[in-house]
Amino acid sequence: MSSPMDVSLQHASGSRELCKLEGVADHPGPSSPSMPAADDKVLVSVEVCLKPSSTARAEDIRAAIERMLEQRSMTYVNGPIPVPVDDSFLFENVKRIRICDTDEWVENHRVLLFWQVRPVVHVYQLSEEGPGEEPSGDDMLSSFNEWILPAKEFDGLWESLVYEVGLKQRLLRYAASALLFTERGVDPCLVSWNRIILLHGPPGTGKTSLCKALAQKLSIHFKSRYSWCQLVEVNAHSLFSKWFSESGKLVAKLFQKIQEMVEEENNLVFVLIDEVESLAAARHAALSGSEPSDSIRVVNALLTQMDRLKSWPNVIILTTSNITTAIDIAFVDRADIKAYVGPPTLQARYEILRSCLQELLRAGIVTNYHDVSLLNYSSLKETMHTSETAGELERPLHLSRLLLEAANACQGLSGRALRKLPFLAHSALTNPYTCEPSRFLHTLIETARRELSEQKA
Ligand SMILES: Nc1ncnc2c1ncn2[C@@H]1O[C@H](COP(=O)(O)OP(=O)(O)OP(=O)(O)O)[C@@H](O)[C@H]1O
Ligand SMILES: [Mg+2]
Repeated sequence: MSSPMDVSLQHASGSRELCKLEGVADHPGPSSPSMPAADDKVLVSVEVCLKPSSTARAEDIRAAIERMLEQRSMTYVNGPIPVPVDDSFLFENVKRIRICDTDEWVENHRVLLFWQVRPVVHVYQLSEEGPGEEPSGDDMLSSFNEWILPAKEFDGLWESLVYEVGLKQRLLRYAASALLFTERGVDPCLVSWNRIILLHGPPGTGKTSLCKALAQKLSIHFKSRYSWCQLVEVNAHSLFSKWFSESGKLVAKLFQKIQEMVEEENNLVFVLIDEVESLAAARHAALSGSEPSDSIRVVNALLTQMDRLKSWPNVIILTTSNITTAIDIAFVDRADIKAYVGPPTLQARYEILRSCLQELLRAGIVTNYHDVSLLNYSSLKETMHTSETAGELERPLHLSRLLLEAANACQGLSGRALRKLPFLAHSALTNPYTCEPSRFLHTLIETARRELSEQKA
C-alpha cells in the first residue's frame, strides 16, 4: 500500500506520471469527454456490441475497430456509426458500434473532431438470460432479481434517459472514480470514498431505470477488468410480506448469495435497493408498535448486511428514494453521491417526445409521407434564430415547432407520463391506421392538456 511519501514521489517524476495516465487510457476507466488524455486528447467511449453468435476475441475486435477509426476522418457525436461492410471480420462479428458520452463536450465546444479524440474501445456481448428470480415463499413476490450484465434487457436504456446535460456524466464519472480508487489500492484511511449512490426525486423521473442503466454502462466500461458483472435488485417490499418469520431467512439467504458473488474478485456486483425509505418507514412503524415486531428484525438484519457489504471493493450499492429529506438509514446517509433527479426540463421533454415520435414513424404507426426527420432541440433553437429557412428545412422545422409546442404543453408531466402519452394520443385518433405527423402532434397536445387537467382534478 502506498505511503504519503510514495504519492509525492510519483508526482515529482514527470515520466512516471505520464506512464500512469497512459495506463488509465489503456485500462478503460473513467472515459469521460471532459477528461483529457495524457496527450491532451479527449477520451471518448466507443462501445462495440458483438453479435450473439460471435466467438471472436475482444482484443482482436478492439484492434480492428481502432484501425478502422484511425482511417476515418469524422466528427465525434453520440450515436451509431455503421459497421464497415468491406471488413468481413467486423461485419461478421459486430452488431453495432456506438459513440457515447460526448454530449457534455459538444454542448460546451460544439464539435469534436477526430484529431481531438482518443477513442477508448469497449467490446461486449449482451447476456440473453432474463432475470433470475428467487421466490420469497409466498408464491407472489420474489425477494430479489438478478441479472448478468450487460443484459439484453437494458440495452439502449442509458441512451433513452434524457436529463439536463451533466447528470448522467456525473454519475458515470463518480462510479468510475470509485472503482479506479479501489483498483489502484488507494488507502481508505488517507482518502475516503464509498461506493453508494442515492438517487432521489419525485415519482416517475427515471430513478430506477437510471440505476439499472448505470450498472449496465459500468459493466461495459469495466469489462476488461471484471470478467463478470451482476446486478441484484432487492425487493424490499417482498421482505416485509406477511410471512415475517420467513423474512429473516430470506435476508440471510439473499446476503449469503451476494457474499459468494463478491468474494470472487473478478466479479463486479451492483446491489439495487429501490425505494429505500420504505426500510426506514418499516422500522419506525415497528418501533411505534403499529407493525409486528418481527419486521424490525428483518429491517435491522438488512441494514446490517448492507453496512457490511459496502466494505467490499467490488460492490456498488445503488439506492433510490421518492423523498428528498434525510433518510434515517446509516448506509444511505453516508452516500457520497446523492443526486436529485427532477421532472424533465423543456429540452428533455422535447427529446423524449422526439424519440417517441421517431419510433412511431419507424414502426409505420405515424405515416412519414415526406420522409422528414425531426430536428434535435439544439438545431431547432439555432434554426429558429435564423430569420430565413431554406425550402428543404421548412417541413422538418414546421414539425419540430409543433413538437416543441407539445413539449411546452407537457410541463408538469413526469418522464413516465411522457412516454405513455403517444400511446394515449394514438388511442384518441379517429383513424388509428393512418395518421400524418402533424395531425398526430395536434392530438398529442390535446392529450397532454387533458392528462394535466385530470391530474389537477
Ligand atoms: N428523464 C427521462 N427520460 C426518459 N425517460 C424517462 C425519464 N424519466 C422517466 N422516464 C421513463 O419513465 C419510466 C419510469 O421510470 P422509473 O420507473 O425508472 O422511474 P422512478 O423514478 O423509479 O419512479 P418511481 O419513483 O415511481 O419508482 C421509464 O420507462 C423511463 O424510461
Ligand atoms: Mg422507481
